[in-house]
Amino acid sequence: MLKVENLNKHYCSGIIRKHHVNAVKNVSFEIQKGNILGLVGNSGCGKSTVARLIMRLIEPDSGKIFLDGIDLMGLSYQKMKEQLTNIQIIFQHPESSLDPHKKILSSLLEPMEIHGIGSCKEERIAKIEELFDLVGLKNNLFTRFPHQISGGEAQRIIISRAMALNPKVLILDEPTSMLDVSIQAHVMNILKDLQKKRDMTYLFISHDLEVLSWFCDEIHVMNKGEIVERGSKDKIINDPQNPFTKELVDCFCKF
Ligand SMILES: Nc1ncnc2c1ncn2[C@@H]1O[C@H](COP(=O)(O)OP(=O)(O)OP(=O)(O)O)[C@@H](O)[C@H]1O
Ligand SMILES: [Mg+2]
Repeated sequence: MLKVENLNKHYCSGIIRKHHVNAVKNVSFEIQKGNILGLVGNSGCGKSTVARLIMRLIEPDSGKIFLDGIDLMGLSYQKMKEQLTNIQIIFQHPESSLDPHKKILSSLLEPMEIHGIGSCKEERIAKIEELFDLVGLKNNLFTRFPHQISGGEAQRIIISRAMALNPKVLILDEPTSMLDVSIQAHVMNILKDLQKKRDMTYLFISHDLEVLSWFCDEIHVMNKGEIVERGSKDKIINDPQNPFTKELVDCFCKF
């Protein structure tokens, strides 16, 4: 369903003194339909860069990305926008994903209108209400602005907004890292239920091996821009081979 081949991304920042980072180096993986792939690694190892590259929010230096057989790198901006019904992303900061000047309902309806989901406004609202029900939100949030809701509510709104487009693939970039532990577990359960109900394909990004081991079928370990080990979650946790994976597993086992 989602395949990336030899993705590379190098950043160059600074005006006088240039600072170079090889954020993503030769990253390749494939996720079959209905599977969840976990991408784990320390802060700054390039996980979010991989996510942004797949969404084409930034362009790779080289590499290929295929979504259900479609070569995303070969698509024009307009055609890529059309693909956003098939692939959606949830970022780690839910508040920054909502327009502060728009009420929640408008933020939810707008992408549905753009992508032709539902035949009229009433149908779209009914779909949002159905999703709100699934994620445990009430429609009294519709008329609020983003600064009038909590982080946990914002994250569930973002999940509803992504799901409203019926994507085949969902990229979750540390979707619960900003939430407190009780809300984290709730949101993770919601995501797992939705994945099962809709037979969706997830790329789940986290620095937390415990979360991934509960959530994913397969785990890939990333260090300094590269995937250094890959395998089933049992293999990664019980029989890690790479020294970096061993370190991660040791930390995980201490808790
Ligand atoms: N736009 C940018 N310009 C320059 N460097 C960048 C840019 N975006 C990211 N980087 C650098 O690229 C590296 C990878 O960043 P990235 O955000 O992909 O890491 P990450 O694994 O998602 O980290 P975290 O777990 O903290 O979210 C980091 O060293 C970061 O400082
Ligand atoms: Mg990140």
